[in-house]
Amino acid sequence: MRHPVVMGNWKLNGSKEMVTDLIKGLNAELAGVEGVDVAIAPPVMFLGLAEELLSDSKIILGSQNVDVNANGAFTGDISPVMLKEFGATHIIIGHSERREYHNESDEFVAKKFGFLKEHGLTPVFCIGESDAQNEAGETEAVCNRQVDAVINALGVDALNGAIIAYEPIWAIGTGKAATAEDAQRIHAAIRAHIAEKSEEVAKNVVIQYGGSVKPENAAAYFAQPDIDGALVGGAALDAASFAAIAKAAAEAKKA
Ligand code: PGA
Repeated sequence: MRHPVVMGNWKLNGSKEMVTDLIKGLNAELAGVEGVDVAIAPPVMFLGLAEELLSDSKIILGSQNVDVNANGAFTGDISPVMLKEFGATHIIIGHSERREYHNESDEFVAKKFGFLKEHGLTPVFCIGESDAQNEAGETEAVCNRQVDAVINALGVDALNGAIIAYEPIWAIGTGKAATAEDAQRIHAAIRAHIAEKSEEVAKNVVIQYGGSVKPENAAAYFAQPDIDGALVGGAALDAASFAAIAKAAAEAKKA
């Protein structure tokens, strides 16, 4: 049985005060909630503060990026060793905002994927198509190409224990979410594509949906058999909204 994972991607938002209030709010809202792994990825600047605030919490600490060197002369880079030292385990890579604004290629993202695995960290590996690719009917081909970059570089077993986040770019931050049925179809296609290499890996890999997930639409996604959780942006910045999404996942996947 796949265990649902709901993760908050805070992007470039926060201050010491906001991080403190939001984590305190999440600790209170999520106390006693079972059946879902909940993770948050604050900006890297606040990992130390978040680690302290989560010391008695089951909430998993994550981060939004990693680079491909552990230490040395790499000005401005983020090391997996340092992420680990702050207790961050679930690391988002391949987000469309990094692919677009930082020109990160499929191959570079695959390299990050392998580097995280090498350091015992969990990649939260984002894939997804643009609006134009969606209109052109290329969604599955784009997702397969992005997944294949990892499989070709590292082998299908690298996906064991990793999380894939399917995030159609046109749905991110737009309020224009994919329908639960459309998302299910793509999730099933991604899983089927992985199953061509390994049925076992395909069966076990967690595939989150991301893109304008809100408390109002979350349950519909989690009711789908191949949607194992969510990567949440905007709604993750409000404790009550994010907790409602996490609780919806726990409830839907209980059976
Ligand atoms: P959103 O962002 O929930 O604000 O659409 C999701 C994401 O970018 O991970």
